[in-house]
Amino acid sequence: MNFTENIANRYTTKLYDASKKVDADIIEQLKQVLYLSPSSLNTQPWNFTFIEEGEKKQALAHHSFHNTEKVQKASHIVAFNVIDDLEYFEQKIEETLPEYAVQYYQNNLKGQPAEEIKSWMSKQVYIALGVFLSACASMGIDSTPMEGIEPEKYTEILGLDKHKTILAVAIGYRDEEDLNQLSKKPKQRRAFEEIISTTR
Ligand SMILES: Cc1cc2nc3c(=O)[nH]c(=O)nc-3n(C[C@H](O)[C@H](O)[C@H](O)COP(=O)(O)O)c2cc1C
Repeated sequence: MNFTENIANRYTTKLYDASKKVDADIIEQLKQVLYLSPSSLNTQPWNFTFIEEGEKKQALAHHSFHNTEKVQKASHIVAFNVIDDLEYFEQKIEETLPEYAVQYYQNNLKGQPAEEIKSWMSKQVYIALGVFLSACASMGIDSTPMEGIEPEKYTEILGLDKHKTILAVAIGYRDEEDLNQLSKKPKQRRAFEEIISTTR
């Protein structure tokens, strides 16, 4: 399948087959995908936690609202975390980015209210989400992006210090009874012309 077909065939999985686990080598590839995701100025204001079956995954399930069963039955959960400590963030970029990028940050972003800088950092994490969902699709892995979680509880259970969880993704293999799969529920989108236009 080409990329467009992979995207057309992916869907948000609502019911997982708990007996099927994603192989370790695929998990390693998905870790690389997140590691290599792009971010503005290459600031990488994030980290990502892969949660295998175990105590923490079951604890997270109870702080995942309508997503509880997905978290319980999916093979792995990936927490998408953003840096929550601006001093730490600035120290990281000063240590690792070229001078022009540090200057750009200092001249254009640093003066803004902390909440705006943090919002800009969160946008970078959502770019990684898009890359990750696309990678899953191309590798035949089913996935569920989940904002329907309690981020503070995830942050606490995962023991994050300088970061906080903002969303999570369940990955695994669909249960054949999943009512959301495309054979049972065709893709829903507004009219193409309403969404996509061309101009010059
Ligand atoms: C950022 C984000 C958060 C989402 N949160 C949830 C969620 O908590 N639970 C869920 O079942 N689906 C969640 N979804 C899935 C969307 O509802 C789904 O992508 C949308 O309805 C389009 O359907 P499709 O992904 O099957 O094409 C989320 C999607 C995105 C992009």
